[in-house]
Amino acid sequence: VPVAVLISGTGSNLAALLAAAARPGAPFAVCGVLADSEAPGLDHARRAGVPTAVVPLADFSDRPAWDEALAAAVRAVRPRLVVLAGFMRLVGAPLLEAFPHAIINTHPALLPSFPGAHGVRDALAYGVKVTGASVIEVDAGVDTGRILAQQAVAVHDDDTEATLHERIKEVERVMLVDVVTSLTSPP
Ligand code: GRF
Repeated sequence: VPVAVLISGTGSNLAALLAAAARPGAPFAVCGVLADSEAPGLDHARRAGVPTAVVPLADFSDRPAWDEALAAAVRAVRPRLVVLAGFMRLVGAPLLEAFPHAIINTHPALLPSFPGAHGVRDALAYGVKVTGASVIEVDAGVDTGRILAQQAVAVHDDDTEATLHERIKEVERVMLVDVVTSLTSPP
């Protein structure tokens, strides 16, 4: 099953997906990687020979024009599933309508707690003792879609945002690969 991956960052979740797709008998293949900037994670795709495209918001006159361009770029790689793996922008109606119920997102907190761009920082600031990672179906809201999988991660007394985020990412990428595998496996 062809899967498109959208990233903004280092792409460690993307790297885990590419590694899983390379295993014999994998039910999915990464058919394209798209980013909203020259994200460092694009190198993982280039090394794997996967087509990439960069669609920067600044290149477009307004947000709706960018939304259309992003949707067109994703459609061009013909995925059946779209994975937001650290893609730090909200996706608009054109992409949601092109891939109904076929876009998922990974988030570094236990939703519905701590949605938005700073899930790790916000959980730490609140003082929770347990946080984690969530994989959700994407809808028009901010991290409001149906929860597909969650894993808890303990917060340590000496955690910084960086140390906690690294521990979350270790469970996050395994869980994301599991969800993508099950969504693309024959029933
Ligand atoms: C992940 O924790 C994702 O949930 C968050 O940003 C991180 C992206 O990491 N929004 P990477 O680019 O996959 O390494």
